[in-house]
Amino acid sequence: MKRNFSVNILLACLLLAFAGTAFGQTTLIQNIYGRTNLSLDGRWNYIVDPYELGYYNYRHQPFDQTPSGKGGFYDDKKPDNKTDLVEYSFDLSQNMNVPGDWNSQSTKLEVYEGTVWFRQKFNADPKTDKKYFLYFGAVNYEAHVYLNGKKLGMHKGGFTPFQFDVTGKLKAGENFVVVKADNTRHQDDIPTVNTDWWNYGGITRDVMLAEVPVTYIADYKIQLAKGNMNRLEGFVQLAGTELGQQVTVNIPEAGINQKFTTDASGRAFISIPVKKISYWSPENPKLYHVEISGSTDKVIDRIGFRTIETKGQDILLNGKSIFLRGISLHDENPLIPGRLRGQGDMRMMLQWAKELNCNYVRLAHYPHSEEMVRLADEMGLLVWAEVPVYWTISWLNTETYQNAEQQLSDLMIRDKNRSSVIVWSIGNETPISDPRNIFMNKLAAKARSLDDTRLVAAALEVHRKDKDIVIEDPLGDKLDLVSFNEYAGWYFSNSTDMLNYKFDIRFNKPVVITEFGADALGGFHADAETRWSEEYQELLYKNQFKMLSAITGLRGMTPWILTDFRSPRRPHPYYQDYWNRKGLISETGKKKKAFFALKAFYDDMQIKFK
Ligand code: GCU
Repeated sequence: MKRNFSVNILLACLLLAFAGTAFGQTTLIQNIYGRTNLSLDGRWNYIVDPYELGYYNYRHQPFDQTPSGKGGFYDDKKPDNKTDLVEYSFDLSQNMNVPGDWNSQSTKLEVYEGTVWFRQKFNADPKTDKKYFLYFGAVNYEAHVYLNGKKLGMHKGGFTPFQFDVTGKLKAGENFVVVKADNTRHQDDIPTVNTDWWNYGGITRDVMLAEVPVTYIADYKIQLAKGNMNRLEGFVQLAGTELGQQVTVNIPEAGINQKFTTDASGRAFISIPVKKISYWSPENPKLYHVEISGSTDKVIDRIGFRTIETKGQDILLNGKSIFLRGISLHDENPLIPGRLRGQGDMRMMLQWAKELNCNYVRLAHYPHSEEMVRLADEMGLLVWAEVPVYWTISWLNTETYQNAEQQLSDLMIRDKNRSSVIVWSIGNETPISDPRNIFMNKLAAKARSLDDTRLVAAALEVHRKDKDIVIEDPLGDKLDLVSFNEYAGWYFSNSTDMLNYKFDIRFNKPVVITEFGADALGGFHADAETRWSEEYQELLYKNQFKMLSAITGLRGMTPWILTDFRSPRRPHPYYQDYWNRKGLISETGKKKKAFFALKAFYDDMQIKFK
C-alpha cells in the first residue's frame, strides 16, 4: 500500500513523541503490592559501561556508534566454544542490591554518571489463563528493558513506576531480564542538569513480576467526595476481555457491600452513601480493609477516608481547621547512605518526623516510593507530594513538558488512594517567565483534571524589595496554597538582622511555607552569630518563628530539612564535604539544637491550634 509522504512524516513524529519518554509500557496497575507477584529484588549482576559499548556494538567495530544489530549486553551472551570472543560476562561480573542506587554501593561509582547494565535471572511458570507484567518502582534516569534478549521498551523519569506486559514472553523455567540504566543529566529532562541533591543512579525501587487474571481490576479510586463526608465516590476499571461485569465494593467495618455494573469499556462509577465512618486524620490514621471484586479478579487495599479543602485562608481536614506542622525530607537516610531501600529506613525517617511532633511531611523534590506514602497513611502523616520540575527547566521544549506531565500523571495514578496525600506539587522555585507560566499553568490544569479531591501547589518564586519579602508570583493564581521558600538569615541577612524583614504576600489563600533553614555542622558549637554552628541554626529557627507568626493565614510549614543529605553543590571541605547541612539531624543521626527548637514550637502550636 502506497502511503503519501505526509502520512509517513506524521507516523514518524508520533513514534518519536511516543518514544520520547516511554514506549512499550502499559497503564500502571493500581496497588501492585496487593497482587500476586514474584519479587525480583536481590543481588543483580552489573556491568559499568561508560562508552555505551553494550548498546551499540560490543563486537568492537572501531568507533562505530550505530547499533550493530548483532546484539548487545542484553543478550547475556556466553562464548559458543573455547575460541569464541565475547568480551563481557554477567555471570562473572560483580553484583549489587536491587533496589538500591549504585553510588552508595560502590566507591568507584560514588560520582558515576552514565550507563550501568543490570541482569537478573528468575524462574517462571506462566499459565495460559493469566497475564504477566514486569513492574519497576523506579529507575533513575533512563531505562531500557529486555526480557530473554528481546527489548520490552524504555522509560524516562527517575522516580515514577512503569511496567511492561510480558504475557506470552516468559519461558517455563529460567528467564533473564536485563536493564540498561543511565543517570546522565540533560538540560531538557525533568529535572534538568542542576539540582541540589545527589544524582543517585540505578534500579532504586522494587522490581516485581505481577500475575493477574486475563480480565483483571486494572485501576480504581475510592475516596470521600470533595467536601462531602457522607459519600464515597470513585471508579473501578477492568482491563481484558470480559469487560461487562458486576463488581462489588466491600468495606465490612463500614457496613458497606455495594454492587455496580461496569460499562462496555469496563468502567463502573462508584457512589456510596456512608453512614458511620471513622475519618482518617493524623490523630486517628484509621485505614479500612477494602475489597474490590468482580467475576474474574479481586484486590484488597487499605484506605483511609478523609476530606481536604481550603476555605478562605483556612485548610480544612474533615471540615476542621488544621495547621500543618511539617518538615521536608529527601528520599535518603544519612545513616544508611543512598536512596531509601524499604520499610526499615523509611520508618526511621518518618519516626523522626513524629518525634518532632509533625502531622505533615513534604516529600521533596520528586515522587518518593509507594511504600513511603503507604507508611505515611499508616503512621498518620499528611503528605505534600512533588514532581521534579525544579529550577531552570527547558520551558519551551514540548518533550520536556510531556515528560513533566507523564511524571505527574504517574504519581497521581499511583497514589490516588492514599489518604495521607493532600497536596500535588507541580514544582519548586521555577524562575518566572512567560514560557514558564504557560508550562506551569498547563501542568496545574492537568493536575486538577486528574484529581479534584486534593490541593494543587508549588514552591513559588519570591523576591525582595528593601526589607520586604514579596510573594506575587503569577503562578499563585492557579494554585490552592501560597507556598514559597525563604531563607531569611541564611542566604540573605544573618541570624539577628533577619528580624528587620517582613513578608508582603499578595494572595488571600492559606500560606504554607515550603522551606526555611540554615546549615549547621552537627557537633560544631559557637556563639549564635557564628555561621555553621548549631547555635546559629537554632537562633535562626527561633527568629523565623517570630517572623512567620506575623503572617495572617499562616497554616503550615515544612522547614528545610529533616536530615543532612548529599549534594554535589556543597563542596566546603570542612563544613559540608558534599553534604547539605540544613538537616535538623546530622549524618550520624544526632539531633541538633534546632531540632528541639522546632519541636517546642510545634508542641506550643498544637496547644494554640487545637
Ligand atoms: C532551595 C531548594 C532546595 C535546596 C535548598 C538549599 O530552596 O528548594 O532543594 O536544597 O534551597 O539551598 O539548601
